[in-house]
Amino acid sequence: MLNLQELISKLTPEEKAALVSGTDFMYTNEIPRLRIPALCMADGPHGLRKQTGAQDNGIAQSEPATAFPTAVTTASGWNPENTRRMGRAIAEECRHYGVHVLLGPGANIKRNPLCGRNFEYFSEDPLLSGTMAAAEVEGVQSGGVGVSVKHFALNNSENYRFMGDSIADERAMREIYLKSFERIVKEAHPATMMCAYNKINGTFCSENRWLLTEVLRKEWGFDGAVMTDWGAVRNRAEGLRAGLDLEMPGDTTICRRWILDGLQDGTLPMEVLDQAVLNILKLVDTYVTGEAAPEADWDAHHKLAAEIAEDSAVLMKNDGVLPLNGTEHLLVVGELFEKMRYQGAGSSMICPAKLTTPKDAFEERKVSYLYCRGYSENRTEPQPELVQEAVKKAEHADTILLFAGLTDYVESEGCDRESMKLPENQLELIERLTATGKKLVIVLFGGSVVELPFADKVSAILHMFLPGQNGGTATFRLLFGEANPGGRLSETWPVCYADVPFGSEFGKTEQEIYKESIYVGYRYYLTAKKKVRYPFGYGLSYTSFTWDNKKVMVDKDAVTVTCDVENTGACAGADVVQLYVKAPQSKVFKPEKELRGYQKVMLKPGEKKTVTITVPLSELRYFNTREQRFVLESGSYEFQLCSDCQTVRLSECVELQGENVSTPYSEETVATYQNADIRSMTKAAFEAMSGQNIPALPPKFPVTLESRFTDLQQTFLGRILFGAVLSVAKKQMKQALALPEGVERDNKIKGAQFLKRILESNSVRSMSMSSGKSMPYHFANGFVEFANGHLFRGIRCFCTPVKVPKLPKQEKEEK
Ligand code: BGC
Repeated sequence: MLNLQELISKLTPEEKAALVSGTDFMYTNEIPRLRIPALCMADGPHGLRKQTGAQDNGIAQSEPATAFPTAVTTASGWNPENTRRMGRAIAEECRHYGVHVLLGPGANIKRNPLCGRNFEYFSEDPLLSGTMAAAEVEGVQSGGVGVSVKHFALNNSENYRFMGDSIADERAMREIYLKSFERIVKEAHPATMMCAYNKINGTFCSENRWLLTEVLRKEWGFDGAVMTDWGAVRNRAEGLRAGLDLEMPGDTTICRRWILDGLQDGTLPMEVLDQAVLNILKLVDTYVTGEAAPEADWDAHHKLAAEIAEDSAVLMKNDGVLPLNGTEHLLVVGELFEKMRYQGAGSSMICPAKLTTPKDAFEERKVSYLYCRGYSENRTEPQPELVQEAVKKAEHADTILLFAGLTDYVESEGCDRESMKLPENQLELIERLTATGKKLVIVLFGGSVVELPFADKVSAILHMFLPGQNGGTATFRLLFGEANPGGRLSETWPVCYADVPFGSEFGKTEQEIYKESIYVGYRYYLTAKKKVRYPFGYGLSYTSFTWDNKKVMVDKDAVTVTCDVENTGACAGADVVQLYVKAPQSKVFKPEKELRGYQKVMLKPGEKKTVTITVPLSELRYFNTREQRFVLESGSYEFQLCSDCQTVRLSECVELQGENVSTPYSEETVATYQNADIRSMTKAAFEAMSGQNIPALPPKFPVTLESRFTDLQQTFLGRILFGAVLSVAKKQMKQALALPEGVERDNKIKGAQFLKRILESNSVRSMSMSSGKSMPYHFANGFVEFANGHLFRGIRCFCTPVKVPKLPKQEKEEK
């Protein structure tokens, strides 16, 4: 245990500036003189990505580790015990590799189904998201490893994530977007939080004092360290003043220069820097223990990954064809059968310690089946020859198992999906196979919602999401009834993308206007009475359950609801009791109902258990923007026990005594918003409701440090620079394409594609802040001058590097 205050008093300003900056992509700076060691971080969140060679986010190789099911999958399990166990296992692997802080989990709310990172986030609902993430945090941290909960906050789209402005009303933030994080902070006490790239209502998260200090620290009591997302720092001194401690990945000379200058001219008080230093020292002191690296139980983790995948898979449709009984004449179609998509693409990409695809599992169990590819996983355009082959082979089968889904080519970190459809080659295949009249079982993979135009025509749909490295075993066991799908949807499946509120505006410019306010996910579809394909909370089982004997007990601070759940079918299975509350209609607009509690229960055939869900009254409050606090309204609250958000099984009304506080809304606002009719939620209505003006979009020209890289192309010189930067990705792609067909080629192509997306969507500033050594700040300024046609000014920038004292570790190396 170090005496931290004493240490701080011994540190020089230069050492302090080094301590609050990262280095070598995933480390904090060591201070050899005072024996302060470096702290090692690694992505996250569904397993470990400890890089072996080049340091970057998601492209280079990493050490083998267990690829667990991603958040979209675990959330569908509605079972926090899963993420807790997974967290413990990940911590064991972190210790094995000497990693002190895991970058994750991601607790952002799924606002739109096309967000490229939805696979990494849990849910559209803050309670489900917050509880699942909090359990993961507890799991990891109980294993002696810290976490960094990300991306704080309102990072709900990818296309403009580096410079985008999320414009939202405070009530939507407090009740939905921040709520998920609030629960994690208060219940699980994460060691660190990672602030997002984007702005919130005009202010970058990395320098947003309201977010990082007023809300996070003062209101929620967070006492850990705040770090940036990689390259999210803008004005370093402003960030420190706002409550940002650690800049990542660091090695940006300009940031240390700003700190030292700020100390000198008094704009950055030493106490402010000392507080950040203290927060980082606490982190280092707690997690860098110097203990020997233990061996991890790789086999147990592989098994755990499959168990979680089984508990989380959602059976969307079943006319009785599933489970298979082993006597069917099976035709298996779809390349995802052999090239299972088991994790998402980007910084969370893990090198799996072991991999079991459905094909491996079928082979291992000696299942007899015919197989054809049907489509190529790495292509999207129709492939008539492959479809033809599948249709022909179907003649010899009575049951077709069709493996379909989203691939890394259409869904990844770094960009939003272009549509909610499955790739065209797969859609055509499905259509042709439904026409054969054979029993057709669709096994889906993928990290987010897709349109299912064929849902009514097929026999069954089993969704595995991104099931992790042992997804093959889980898929086999579920198909053949060795396990029972235990999942329920953690997000709404709309019929088509046109039904998504403000879908046509999503990901189009650097402004995301959250005009729908609190009507996110099912809160919108239920209130607007919009038909959906599958509702939030929905999922079938191979067995059946009855619920009865409901009791509702009200005491001073909470309402407790109990009911008995009995497994009335022939096999073991899990049911999820979901408690929604319908609040009184008043002069405050409200969603139709909101999830306020849930419990999963595992039952053997004939077994009965009592489920108890307690809802603190504080959870029933809405956020009153005028009062600046949560308020409980008096009135009748309906407590509904549901098997999905639409299906009420048992309900009871309870009269609750709340406060008498006047509404912050005008009558027009309530009239506009109370039915969630998006046609009436205009820009003007949003401004009136939220009390804030939507600023004009920033001009595209002249180019600034905040410009998107693609905007460089407006001028001749800018195009040359853009081409030069993109050539790195192009070169990688060329090398990848030259490789022989196989896993290595596929992975390299995906890596090159991810790099291209990152390069295109980056801002000039963020690119510089995330690659300090290869594109230092004076280069970034030079780029901007060049792109604006100022050749000589550009050259001057390029020739004027930022001068800053050496890092303590460099001094040590030189000795
Ligand atoms: C991602 C983070 C990730 C970091 C480090 C960023 O680009 O947004 O989620 O943890 O890179 O790889």
